[in-house]
Amino acid sequence: MHIVAHRGYSALAPENTLPAFAAAVLGGATLIEFDVRTTADDVPVVIHDRTLDRTTSGSGHVWDLPYSEVAAADAGSWFSPAYAGTRVPTLAAVLELLADASLLLEIKPPATLPQVKTIVSLLDQYGLRERTIVQSFDPQIVRLVREVDPSVRRGLLRLRFEADTLDLADELDVVCLNPSTADVLGDPGTVTALVARGIDVMPWTANDIAEWGPLIRGGVAGLITDRVAELTGWLAH
Ligand code: G3P
Ligand code: CA
Repeated sequence: MHIVAHRGYSALAPENTLPAFAAAVLGGATLIEFDVRTTADDVPVVIHDRTLDRTTSGSGHVWDLPYSEVAAADAGSWFSPAYAGTRVPTLAAVLELLADASLLLEIKPPATLPQVKTIVSLLDQYGLRERTIVQSFDPQIVRLVREVDPSVRRGLLRLRFEADTLDLADELDVVCLNPSTADVLGDPGTVTALVARGIDVMPWTANDIAEWGPLIRGGVAGLITDRVAELTGWLAH
């Protein structure tokens, strides 16, 4: 059972920041999930939203901004004054911090082939390629990952199980398919079909303790949660 830290230990520290990733490791995460976007001057950075507005003191689309502007924003104060001055990390800084961990790296759209190449080459540079699954909601980005290097393990995210889910999983040859918790609980047949193909199912975002038991009994390989240490403690009971 993977304890997957969603954007790091995001219940305790600002999502997708170095403090959230350090806390995820200490909290017992066995996989650390985060989101990658690329700045206007081609620097991969770790941030969830399209814009800086919700989680930083800055504003504007990540892809319109030079890295210097993204780096100047405060990515901690919105969460708590305890994290004032925390920055949006580069992908390189995250990989350096997590060089001994296992990663679930989500590429957010839009992403081009050269941008995906840069991300995969950074995984190589930090010795993390074998310990990383690269996933996306966008099947075309998963195809780009395969084009860059078919040996990189791939995952597909789904907002909901749709009629083409199993066909897409087969076509993209993914190792995991990660839907919402509601779909796992509401559609056990699709979960069973995925597990029968050897594909791991790790639902997001499993923050409700009451759902942890039913999800695990439903056959999931891991839970993607903001509540990392709570899940670690709960699994130990
Ligand atoms: O990895 C699952 C989860 O991160 C997908 O949703 O919006 O948090 O990136 P989101
Ligand atoms: Ca994500």
